[in-house]
Amino acid sequence: MSEAVRELISEADVDEKIAELGKKISEDYEGESVFLLCILKGGVFFTTELAKRIRVPVSLDFMSVSSYGAQTESSGVVRIVKDLDTSIEGKNVLVVEDIIDTGRTLAYLMDNLKQRNPKSLKLCALLDKPERRVTEVSVDYRGFQIPDEFVVGYGMDYDQKYRNLPYIGVVEFA
Ligand code: IMP
Ligand code: MG
Repeated sequence: MSEAVRELISEADVDEKIAELGKKISEDYEGESVFLLCILKGGVFFTTELAKRIRVPVSLDFMSVSSYGAQTESSGVVRIVKDLDTSIEGKNVLVVEDIIDTGRTLAYLMDNLKQRNPKSLKLCALLDKPERRVTEVSVDYRGFQIPDEFVVGYGMDYDQKYRNLPYIGVVEFA
């Protein structure tokens, strides 16, 4: 079976959207600083681009959670594979994620983070597949809403491939 990637959102459109999000975040956090909590590995490309567009002081750290095997559907069982190195108590935490699908991963994570007493806690996702939602999560900053298709690129993978694509695409099998 061979795979090909069809472009869904161009590099220029992603860049423009990230600039918009950065501007909005800078306005909303004016006079404050923001702690970007990047969810590995998928969120890493988005986080670095977004961070460059934010005009208030930024610090960042990484967390890795696993809710999948090699399948394309989350199991609902979320495990923290790598926790933060720093405390988030009293900080304005903005979780940065590649995509919200069923919402299971983020629902668990937001709940876990809330218990660590941040000053504020918000969520920013590059992509959202609302049709797929199983667990409610509130997304404060959203790049694009997309239909129910499995996407890759800009950090997102299929079987660990395609994370480096500068655009967002759909994997097609032939
Ligand atoms: P959820 O718990 O179902 O919302 O899954 C969220 C995680 O699954 C995301 O952070 C991604 O890592 C992964 N994921 C969900 N949909 C896709 C997709 O279309 N392409 C690549 N990864 C995806
Ligand atoms: Mg992810």
